[in-house]
Amino acid sequence: MGLIIILLGVGTLSMAGLVSIMPAEFYEAEEQQPADEGPVIPRDRVSVASTYIPASTAEAAAIISGDALFKANCAQCHSVYQQVVGPKLADIDKRRPMPWIVSWVQNSAKVIASGDEYGVKLYNENGKQQMPSFGLSRKEIEDIIAWIKVQPESAPAIHIEAVAAN
Ligand code: HEC
Repeated sequence: MGLIIILLGVGTLSMAGLVSIMPAEFYEAEEQQPADEGPVIPRDRVSVASTYIPASTAEAAAIISGDALFKANCAQCHSVYQQVVGPKLADIDKRRPMPWIVSWVQNSAKVIASGDEYGVKLYNENGKQQMPSFGLSRKEIEDIIAWIKVQPESAPAIHIEAVAAN
């Protein structure tokens, strides 16, 4: 049995921040005993237009990991499509090469101190606000970028659902 992870945009359900990973059996069980545990997701209201199916289980795992890492470490200052404390992060993988992003997240002060032109400009444009350094691995930062890349612009909240494939 393989595992298919489907990301469903559910902005209309106002479930911002909810991430749940449930096997298909969960839904079957829930249909018999409705609504005593956790939120019930009405499947007919889920937007199919923003469904994203990762190419591999590895990509799916990266997105799930990135989702949790982003919410725990970055969401207080960043959003994908809106400037918050820091810049919006949509298309960051197109603006900057991955090694730069990794160095920046691990220690932006060091990147700025090295005289990196882009980093210095960004820092100055953001009122010289210092982004904290994160003890995240290259893989963890890549997971965050994998998550950013699949966020639909039209549906701000995303629900991650894992279903067992037949
Ligand atoms: C306390 C606020 C804060 C947190 C938390 C934070 N950042 Fe930042 N980030 C900033 C600011 C402010 C900037 C703009 C540059 C500066 O002022 O140093 C920035 C810039 C960036 C940039 C460059 C953006 C661009 O347009 O080139 C990236 C990439 C980034 N942050 C990623 C992250 C990631 C990933 C996390 C979580 C692991 C994170 N940030 C957590 C405040 C924050």
